[in-house]
Amino acid sequence: MASLERRVAVDAARAAGQLLKSELPGSRRIAYKGSPTNLVTEMDARVEELIVGRLAAAFPDDAILAEERGATTGRSGRRWIIDPLDGTTNYAHGFPAFGVSIALESAKRVALGVIYDPNLDEMFVAERGRGSTLDDCPLAVSTTATLDESLLATEFPYNIREVLDNNLKEYAAFSVRARAVRRMGSAVLYLAWLASGRLDGYWELRLGPWDVAAGSLLVEEAGGQITDLTGGALDLDAPSLVATNGRIHAAILAVLGEVRGRRS
Ligand code: IPD
Ligand code: CA
Ligand code: CA
Repeated sequence: MASLERRVAVDAARAAGQLLKSELPGSRRIAYKGSPTNLVTEMDARVEELIVGRLAAAFPDDAILAEERGATTGRSGRRWIIDPLDGTTNYAHGFPAFGVSIALESAKRVALGVIYDPNLDEMFVAERGRGSTLDDCPLAVSTTATLDESLLATEFPYNIREVLDNNLKEYAAFSVRARAVRRMGSAVLYLAWLASGRLDGYWELRLGPWDVAAGSLLVEEAGGQITDLTGGALDLDAPSLVATNGRIHAAILAVLGEVRGRRS
């Protein structure tokens, strides 16, 4: 796919990211999606419109699933999955850690994944069977072999105030077993950074398809492993996620099993 698809997605991600970055110093209109910690700003919708407009113009027969506007159907059997702004809470606070994620799914498998970080001006691209790249240079996951030496990342669910299954016990368990556990507020950047060898592992209990679609391909194509919390296949429609360099995957699953018992 040297392809039009890759070019259009990369250009759309870059334009969206640049718009986000240029508007970052402005004041935000914040609304809430169901819980007081789940924010959405006017920029989420604005940037999503830009991306969807470009994809729909270039590929009118494809379905689109975009976080803010939801799903539209298509007749090609392909689907674009878009997170226009991953890291909305950061964005609303002017904290410069956020990204744009665009994936193309074909025959129910992610075929193309694009993640752009406008703050570091880094473009991550993966194509199934053709590897992952950062600014066109090939990527590989880290070679860290033990949990003890690993740098991990995680986040807490937006309904942390309401549910008991809120990742606090898991966070405590990994904090005393890993070198460190980071929380930066962007699932798509964690996955891109895992693919780049900057992180060794990442887990999160509940995500959306748009958080995971592009990043899962980046991790796989960089030689990493990605499963649900018990080692089963990732469910892109309702992802719970363990993503690692492969070498520490079993160790992460073992700790999760210890803490969570048989829950998935
Ligand atoms: C969120 C971020 C956050 C993760 C949440 C996501 P959003 O995406 O990636 O790090 O913990 O699960 O929903 O809402 O900023 O696009
Ligand atoms: Ca997101
Ligand atoms: Ca988002």
